[in-house]
Amino acid sequence: MIFITKTTLLFRVLIVAVLFVPFCFACKGDDVIPPIPKPGTDPVDTILNSDTISLRKVSPFPFGGALNISTLKNNTTYRNTVIKEFNSLTAENVMKMKNISLGRGQYYWTDADYLVAFAQANKMRIHGHALVWYNSTPTWITNFTGTKDDWKAILHEYITAVVGRYKGKIQSWDVLNEAILDDGTFRDCVWKQNIGIEYIDLCFQYAREADPNVLLFYNDYGHEYSSTKRTAINKLATDLIARGVPIDGLGLQMHTSITRPDADIKTAINTAASTGLKIHISEFDIRTNTAADPNLTFNATLSAAQKQKYKVAVKALFDLPANQRYGFTFWGVYDGQSWIPTEYNCPDWPLPFDNEFNRKDAYYGILAGLK
Ligand code: G3I
Repeated sequence: MIFITKTTLLFRVLIVAVLFVPFCFACKGDDVIPPIPKPGTDPVDTILNSDTISLRKVSPFPFGGALNISTLKNNTTYRNTVIKEFNSLTAENVMKMKNISLGRGQYYWTDADYLVAFAQANKMRIHGHALVWYNSTPTWITNFTGTKDDWKAILHEYITAVVGRYKGKIQSWDVLNEAILDDGTFRDCVWKQNIGIEYIDLCFQYAREADPNVLLFYNDYGHEYSSTKRTAINKLATDLIARGVPIDGLGLQMHTSITRPDADIKTAINTAASTGLKIHISEFDIRTNTAADPNLTFNATLSAAQKQKYKVAVKALFDLPANQRYGFTFWGVYDGQSWIPTEYNCPDWPLPFDNEFNRKDAYYGILAGLK
């Protein structure tokens, strides 16, 4: 006869509970919602200690990349490279209005939540991109009809929902992206058409209202190639400051190329910094295939030119006062997943990591720019 004491029975029940309850929770919905990263999910300290050099270790200001959410989830080398090198993350797409806003009051948060949790678990900051961008307006909004006040209401609702959800978790936002054209005039968009140019002030005011501590950026391209455009951007920034509209920084996308003169890059960064605002090099990449040659291969000459250009840009940010150096973000992580080849319909190698995540010469140009 087998006797089971009360203690043994309790012990067995506990073992069963410990083994099976988490299993049941894991099954529930796992195929729909990816597990949210928690501290300890990634061996961040081991990854950081695996090398004496890493951008996040050696730089006095944050380095980051625009991340592809599915590659982050599925490619361990990509994920570990991100953890090792970056302490600032931007979502390449998942925090755009088109991705988040499914309808009035309807939001898709899963991917953005994942990225925020990943950053928190791995001791990184998140730069939100982008609350309002003419090119990421969902159809339900382009089709929306209503009075000026109705349009203000939907803008307010969206910004309040997004900034509010990540209050205290996202450190900065591109509040407004690409609102100025190369000729220095304001770009047309549904917000301008229906609210008037006042929509710009409102974007910043609504964001500040939703999170009093988050840093608010105006983000645009072209500072390095158009003096008309950079003058217009500086005018917008100084007008906002003068009128008490909350703005903390300027994002300079800097999608540039090896043929761009060094002086243009320095002038772009120094002119933006003359506003006194924080400066974020927010979408940096350097095209090498400037003739869009379909048969070009990456060679030592291109690599050296790219390295030198990376150095110039990083050094220009490095030379600013410390409180204005917000950070340096690449638009992507590695060459194989850059937007450039698709955009220009030719091969290119714009980023500091190659397809095997090896550090390219460009990487060492960056390190040289930090001296
Ligand atoms: O994920 C879908 C896929 O399911 C679908 O099959 C495919 C078919 O078109 O589209 C995929 O989505 C694409 C997405 O990139 C992911 O690859 C979108 O169509 C495409 O429009 C989107 O392009 C992004 C673009 O912004 C527009 O949002 C680029 O990845 C992204 O690099 C680019 O980033 C912009 C910055 O936000 C602002 N500054 C310029 C920069 C480059 O254009």
